[in-house]
Amino acid sequence: MKNSINRIIHTGTISREEIVRWLRSRGEERAALLSLAGQVKREQVGNKVYLRGLVEYSNRCAKNCLYCGIRGGNSRVRRYTMSDEEVVAAARYARDAGYASLVIQGGEIASPARSREITRLLEKINEATGGSLGITLSLGEQSRQTLDAWKRAGARRYLLRVETSNPDLYARIHPANTRHDFKARVDTLRQLRDLGYQVGTGCMIGLPFQSLDDLAGDLLFFREIDVDMIGMGPYVEHDETPLYRYRGTLLPPAERLDLALKMIAIARVMMKDINIVATTAMQALDKIGREKALRAGANIVMPNITPVKYRAGYLLYRGKPCVDEEAARCKACLDARVRLAGDEVVYGEWGDSRHFAMKTRNINQT
Ligand code: 5AD
Ligand code: SF4
Ligand code: FES
Repeated sequence: MKNSINRIIHTGTISREEIVRWLRSRGEERAALLSLAGQVKREQVGNKVYLRGLVEYSNRCAKNCLYCGIRGGNSRVRRYTMSDEEVVAAARYARDAGYASLVIQGGEIASPARSREITRLLEKINEATGGSLGITLSLGEQSRQTLDAWKRAGARRYLLRVETSNPDLYARIHPANTRHDFKARVDTLRQLRDLGYQVGTGCMIGLPFQSLDDLAGDLLFFREIDVDMIGMGPYVEHDETPLYRYRGTLLPPAERLDLALKMIAIARVMMKDINIVATTAMQALDKIGREKALRAGANIVMPNITPVKYRAGYLLYRGKPCVDEEAARCKACLDARVRLAGDEVVYGEWGDSRHFAMKTRNINQT
């Protein structure tokens, strides 16, 4: 293990089998992996944590992913879309709180009307905040034309999780129709890169039918497409979804969380200078799950700044934290939590991925 760690650090190469071995590691080996990842983080990105204010813009979704609580087919969800005024108020809050970055996330609606709506919203946010916020969009698969329009209207980053890099597993956790197509998802990720977005992707960890080999494949996929950000977290079952019937086959929560921590640690060792999110789902499984993720190599936290009246409408999974907390409470809470993890929150800076900055610099120099 020690030898393999040293070689990976120096040569940057790692095999699928080695990743699987690390994912299986326990005891001393596991501790060595986590401490190495913490060291790589400190050397490469420092003990700094950047915040992204998360706006859960709309829970309307045309898709029906079999794991997701707000999938279009769940008739028990009360649907909402925030007004422009509400989003702009949240953006102002983010700026005033020093968050410097905003994520606008919502279900997947790929219509010309939605496309125009978001373009208009981006313009309004930039006008209200003097272009001071680094804006990330997370609104599912969209046409190249729409993604291009959003980029020109001021979006800099895009998050689109591949969910799993194994096409067979992808097919088992999604309905079998053209709307849920693995290849289309990967094509969208490549288009985002072509269009000049900072690209974030990720997967769920501990899904039914998922093997350690699948997870190793996910990490290799992230590196192959040269991601700038990773957001991945444990799968958390939701009783109003088709996958719930397989809950008996899942790893117990503590083991699922541990697997997610190892995924973060290996990702940090493999892709040293990218941004990695300590996701909310980590905290759904463990009260200090996000702190553990920071220690394992994550460097981004996304405090929820959605108006509280909408929060209960955005339950992708059960046990989601901060459903009743006003944005200001999360701010103080997070600051303290990040310190407990031995890190420090950086306010007032975009915190773009160093990986992206280096790539752009190389391109500009050649
Ligand atoms: N458990 C964990 N993560 C989930 N997501 C959706 N449903 C669940 C769930 N049950 C994640 C997906 C999606 C992101 C917005 O939320 O990875 O990309
Ligand atoms: Fe819609 Fe995203 Fe949920 Fe899939 S995971 S149903 S695209 S909100
Ligand atoms: Fe929301 Fe702690 S981060 S209450």
